[in-house]
Amino acid sequence: MVETKHVQIQIGLKYIDIKYIDILESYALALCHYLDTHHEQLNLVDKAVLEIGAGTGLVSVVAALLGAWVTSTDLPDVLNTLRVNLSRNTRGHSRHTPQAAALSWGCGLETTYPSSVYRYDYVLATDVVYHHDFLDELLVTMKHFCQPGTTLIWANKVRFESDLTFTENFKKAFHTSLLYEDGDERKVERCHSSFVCL
Ligand SMILES: C[S@@+](CC[C@H](N)C(=O)[O-])C[C@H]1O[C@@H](n2cnc3c(N)ncnc32)[C@H](O)[C@@H]1O
Repeated sequence: MVETKHVQIQIGLKYIDIKYIDILESYALALCHYLDTHHEQLNLVDKAVLEIGAGTGLVSVVAALLGAWVTSTDLPDVLNTLRVNLSRNTRGHSRHTPQAAALSWGCGLETTYPSSVYRYDYVLATDVVYHHDFLDELLVTMKHFCQPGTTLIWANKVRFESDLTFTENFKKAFHTSLLYEDGDERKVERCHSSFVCL
């Protein structure tokens, strides 16, 4: 079981390169909180977890501390920082050593991550939907990794029209359910959703 205090101190203040995190706008923090407070239901112990667009790796760190076997992915040029963050925040505290790996959305998925070999219990993603040119590729990637029995948990804020379009396409592709919505006035648009794939 993860001690929340321990996680918050290590991740928030000590190791993660916080210049890459806008704490107030961090959906990663929100998902971490969700994973931690729902760890009994989710039971990540020994589960295979993939994070896509991991950035600093905050969510991957928490999943690893909660006992998961984590593969944390992002574009090749951010892997060094990701690897350092994973290592410094989990060494000696996690059942499984989290791995950092390159994954560019939509690129060579079946070659690099053949679905017959790579099966995940959970796919995690935070703040991967915003104004960029790879939303179609992102959806292709989510579909690729979501096999029967996989749960995708995605936390995001809907900011742009294109985000809404993505969400609609997403809901057409998967059976979805909203897990949590932040009712705080200051963050009224923030929502955290869990989409369970069939
Ligand atoms: C806004 S950041 C979110 C990072 C982290 N998930 C969080 O919530 O703090 C978006 C992340 O997606 C990654 N990303 C953007 N385009 C990508 C692509 N085409 N393939 C893979 N990762 C991508 C970026 O490198 C970045 O780490």
